[in-house]
Amino acid sequence: MLWTIGLCFLLASSGISHPLSSHRRNTGPNKLLLISFDGFRWDYDRDVDTPHLDEMARDGVKATYVTPSFFTITSPTHFTLITGRYIENHGVIHNMWFNTTTLEKKSYWQTQFVNEYWDNGSLPIWITAQRQGLKAGSFHFPGTAATYQGEMVSVGEVEPPIYNYSNETVWKQNVDMVMGSWFRDMDLDFVALYFGEPDGTGHKFGPDSPQRRDMVRQVDRTVGYLRNSAKRHGLADRLNVIITADHGMSTVQRNGNVEEIVLRKIPNFSFSDLVFHLVDYGPTGMLLPKEGRLDKVYNALKGAHPHLHVYKKEEMPSRLRFSNNDRILPIVLWADPGYVINGYFPVQFNRGEHGFDNEGLDMKPFFRAVGPDFQKNLEVGPFDTVNIYPLMCHLLGITPEPNDGHLDNTRRMLVAPPPEEPKRSPSSVFIGIGAVGGFLVLVFFVLVISKVLKRGKTQKRIEDGDHKEDNTIIEHTNM
Ligand SMILES: *[C@@H]1O[C@H](CO)[C@@H](O)[C@H](O)[C@H]1NC(C)=O
Ligand SMILES: *[C@@H]1O[C@H](CO)[C@@H](O)[C@H](O)[C@H]1NC(C)=O
Ligand SMILES: *[C@@H]1O[C@H](CO)[C@@H](O)[C@H](O)[C@H]1NC(C)=O
Ligand SMILES: *[C@@H]1O[C@H](CO)[C@@H](O)[C@H](O)[C@H]1NC(C)=O
Ligand SMILES: *[C@@H]1O[C@H](CO)[C@@H](O)[C@H](O)[C@H]1NC(C)=O
Ligand SMILES: [Zn+2]
Repeated sequence: MLWTIGLCFLLASSGISHPLSSHRRNTGPNKLLLISFDGFRWDYDRDVDTPHLDEMARDGVKATYVTPSFFTITSPTHFTLITGRYIENHGVIHNMWFNTTTLEKKSYWQTQFVNEYWDNGSLPIWITAQRQGLKAGSFHFPGTAATYQGEMVSVGEVEPPIYNYSNETVWKQNVDMVMGSWFRDMDLDFVALYFGEPDGTGHKFGPDSPQRRDMVRQVDRTVGYLRNSAKRHGLADRLNVIITADHGMSTVQRNGNVEEIVLRKIPNFSFSDLVFHLVDYGPTGMLLPKEGRLDKVYNALKGAHPHLHVYKKEEMPSRLRFSNNDRILPIVLWADPGYVINGYFPVQFNRGEHGFDNEGLDMKPFFRAVGPDFQKNLEVGPFDTVNIYPLMCHLLGITPEPNDGHLDNTRRMLVAPPPEEPKRSPSSVFIGIGAVGGFLVLVFFVLVISKVLKRGKTQKRIEDGDHKEDNTIIEHTNM
């Protein structure tokens, strides 16, 4: 009998101490869905009834808010979510690709297809998952279209160049596709799913508008639809769902209420001192001065407007982590909430914007999680979004790439915190058992048996999964 227990322990412990020695996982048999609702500010549920989000919070975990990386704009902050790295470390520094020699710029959508822009040394979690034997998909998530070190997400869907991001009927179809086709039929382990709202409505009408509140109701209905779809497809008890966003939204002041920031109007500033500029993009800007003109440009702009922040790249406040990357231009600009940065003329008419300092509450997204691995009815304090990546790797049982987050910052959300490294050898364990007596033997025995049973189940599911791997469908529309 003791010999049997000993053997079980040896088997189990070799599984624990080398969780990834093969490229199959031995823990975390549940699937994971990461959802981003673009621009969903942390407090958007405060002035709207959100029964489905409320129910999800009761069934799972809610953070007060999370802190995105800076610039608080879509592609950079989404890439932080799926790499766990600050923007200066992952290199996707802007929504727009640009070349300061040819002066060419590409839009958000076109930039999706510039591989070298995304593949700059950091791997999105779907590539890491695939390399460790899991199956992954990405639906409209920024970065989906790119190839990373020669590898692409195995199931991906990229939106067409002209796409209405707001159609609720289409949202439901997309949800059913992810749940039914991707998770159930193709047996994917991880999916990243993106919705372009409430960002669009927040920009157009402002975060305090009735239109934004309506869109939050639509998001809420979709969350209800999604959880129901998971149930219908038999996934509810083996699917963890994380819902968050890339940034928040803040009201822009104009119509004579404020003195707008227009660079052309600033004394001693001249566009002729620049090689390249990226302004007229909400509250952020970057400038490349001509040879020898850096200080002239800097001195002209610094202090020129009370709500314009002007920094040489090397002097950026370190908390913003937006400095240490060759792609960041020598002068970085950003405006205070309420303001945007215009070049020659005021050409921006959005009522809502993001891109501001990530310390401001208006830039904070929401965070919710529900599923078999999460606690119920728990609200946790704020944390940086870099920590979502190590949490997701833990849930999937994969080894993370180097990143700027840590599981310690989210561990408290989990049902069973991961065990401390079990370093004890079986013999010392048995000496311990002898000393503390029969009760512990019983506890130990139950633990070992359940671990072995769980391990057997995981192993089976993985084998079923591997069987289908060769048939993985590559589904890229509109490349
Ligand atoms: C920008 O264009 C120039 C000239 O075509 C080229 O040499 C350079 O490699 C390009 N830089 C980037 C970042 O694409
Ligand atoms: C990242 O991109 C820059 C050009 O923008 C390039 O010089 C650098 O080598 C790239 N780094 C990696 C690791 O791909
Ligand atoms: C929304 O999408 C559905 C399905 O594609 C379509 O039939 C409907 O016309 C769309 N509604 C709007 C308002 O565009
Ligand atoms: C997108 O679809 C929504 C409803 O589904 C509609 O209200 C809106 O007008 C459409 N937007 C555009 C630009 O067609
Ligand atoms: C503009 O530059 C000139 C010459 O360097 C200087 O005398 C003047 O004070 C500057 N004006 C402002 C507003 O900084
Ligand atoms: Zn966004």
